[in-house]
Order: sequence, then C-alpha cells, then structure tokens
Amino acid sequence: GSIGKDGYRHFMEKELHEHPLVIGQTLQRMVDPASRRVFLPDMPFDLATVPRAVITACGSAFYAGMVGRYWLEAIARLPVDIDVASEMRYRNPPLTEGSLGLLISQSGETADTLAALRSLRQKAIHILSVLNVEHSTMARESDSVLGTVAGPEISVASTKAFTAQLTVLACLTIATARARGMLDALAEEELVAALLDLPSRAAEVFTQGAAIRRLAGVVAEARDVLYLGRGSMFPIAMEGALKLKEISYIHAEAYAAGEMKHGPISLIDRTVPIVASVPYTPLFDKTLSNLQEAKARGGRLLVFTDTKGADRVSAIAEDMVVLPHVHDFVAPILQTIPVQMLAYEVAVLKGTDVDQPRNLAKSVTVE
Ligand code: AGP
Repeated sequence: GSIGKDGYRHFMEKELHEHPLVIGQTLQRMVDPASRRVFLPDMPFDLATVPRAVITACGSAFYAGMVGRYWLEAIARLPVDIDVASEMRYRNPPLTEGSLGLLISQSGETADTLAALRSLRQKAIHILSVLNVEHSTMARESDSVLGTVAGPEISVASTKAFTAQLTVLACLTIATARARGMLDALAEEELVAALLDLPSRAAEVFTQGAAIRRLAGVVAEARDVLYLGRGSMFPIAMEGALKLKEISYIHAEAYAAGEMKHGPISLIDRTVPIVASVPYTPLFDKTLSNLQEAKARGGRLLVFTDTKGADRVSAIAEDMVVLPHVHDFVAPILQTIPVQMLAYEVAVLKGTDVDQPRNLAKSVTVE
C-alpha cells in the first residue's frame, strides 16, 4: 500500500492541496457543529487551574507553538513559556508544580522533543502532546494526546501537519479560555464559527496560484529574503522563511516587523525582497507603517494580505496576493498556506529536489 502523488508533481504539492481537508478533519474531532462548542477528550488535569503552560517543539512545530502562545495568553489568559526543544531541555527553567507541558510534533519521534518531554516529565508537570502519528514514542510517553488528523506527511517540508497543529491549538485555546472563565458562550460561538469557516476559505487560496507564482519569480532570483509579520503573523513569517531555506536553499530570515528598524533595515536594498504577511487585523496599520519604512529605503514589497487590506497594500506593494478576509483569530492558519506555496513554487523554479531536500530528514532522530 504505497501512497502516490495523485497527479501532483511532488508530495509537497499534493499535501499543500490537502490543507482544507485536513483542517476540516481535525476540527471534526473537536468541534460539535450543532452546538458550535469545542469538546476535548478527558484529560487527567484541569485546564481551569493549570498555573502555566510550557510549550516546546522543533522547527515548524515550534512555530505552531508560538502561535499557540499568542492565543493562550491573549484569549485564555494563561501564562506561557516557550522554547525550542533543544534549548528548553538545558535551560532547566523553574516550573510550578501542576503546570502543563505542551509538546508538538508531527512524527512523535523527534529526538530533541522527546528528550524535552522526558526531562519535563521528571518535574511533576502534565504532558499533553499534539501529535500526528498516533502510535509514536511521544504518544506512549504522554499523559494525554490531542491528534492532528493530517494523514501521512511524506514531504520533508511540513505543510498540512502545521495547519492541523494550529487547528488543534486553536481548539485547545477555546477550551482553556472557557474553563478559565475568559470566554462566554457568545464569544466561543464566534471563534468556533471562524474555525468552521476555514476549510472553504482555505480552498479559495488555490485560486491565487498565478499571483503566488509571480512572487516566486522575484524570490527565485534573490540570494537573501526578509520575511515580516507581527503578532500571530510573526511565526507565520518564520514558517515561510524556514520553508524557503529548506527547499529552495535561498537564505531567508524572519523578523517581527516592528523590530526591523532595530537592525535588519540596514540590509534593505533592491536585491533583498521583503515578503510580508499582513492580513487586515488590529495590527494592520502598525505593520503597514513598518513596510513603508522598508519601501522608503528601496525595499521591494511582496505582500500577502486579504480582501479588506488589499486597497491600502496595493498603494505601497510591488506585488501582492489577496486572500479571503477571515476572523483575526484564524488569520495565521489561512496565511500559512500561501507562504508555503510560495516556497514550493520557488523550489520548482530552482529545480531542487523538493520532497527530499539535501541534508534533511523527515524526522530527526538524533539530538
Ligand atoms: C519543517 O518543514 C521541517 N522539516 C522541520 O522543521 C520539522 O517541523 C521539525 O523537524 C519537527 O518535526 P516533528 O514535527 O516531526 O517533531
């Protein structure tokens, strides 16, 4: 029983097209469409009284965790500490007993994440893992598991597992916020409605293929690329930069857009394209003025925005991709899809081995 590419050029392309399906399947596990409420499996701890969460993961899963931090802090008012697993383990952070250790991994076999899990285990904290592979080592060693329903991911560059992780973390945020008295029924309904709307909005992203390929043409010529975003869009910029590095071998860095003026702005010239993720959220104006500063220094702006932001973005951007406007809460999930597609199209232009990039393994089982 081997898995085929179903007519797509690469597994990565096939898996990119599975985003809408996978978000929907993952939601089905946790959301009751009739009552529009989130239901998580029973867990041996109480989300209402957990004093703190410690999130740890590697690579893309870590960026999913960073979005999770924004959500858990802002919506559930839960204090969160986060670090990459290879650092968390050696930081030996002081942990309050009864805290929640939140581990995120597609494979459930990543050595750094597994080692972090084991070291957190010794500290009387609850281990909740967000995993795609159900029968993995991390699954066996966790107190609770929330499954992403992404199916097998073959491409070394993670795509659909990432949006599935975000979907699970969004549901966890809603359940935690409710348990902590931070979300009334109406507010919960609004967030759940935004999530349930996502699969169809995600499907619409694929109508933007031509625009994404235009941007890819510019990025493929560059040696260095700067990715920018703010708030929950900053980790999406990081995801975009990682994906570009992994499969196109073009150097890319992500910065929080407001931090650019503290250093990286000195890099900007015509040869360093700026890829910015700027949907119309409460941070839209602030991010746009950061982009203005870059443009004033000769920066070429390639912007992912949405229907509500398009007019103002078009006034300053060299080129843009317009996505459907969605609720702020779920915007990072939707905005992930085009940054991954951009990396894919650049890699295709570069002619790299997209599914098996050099020096990388699908799951990294050494520390
Ligand atoms: C993402 O495109 C990567 N290939 C990589 O960063 C990956 O997300 C990381 O190694 C973590 O893997 P895991 O989710 O299986 O633990």
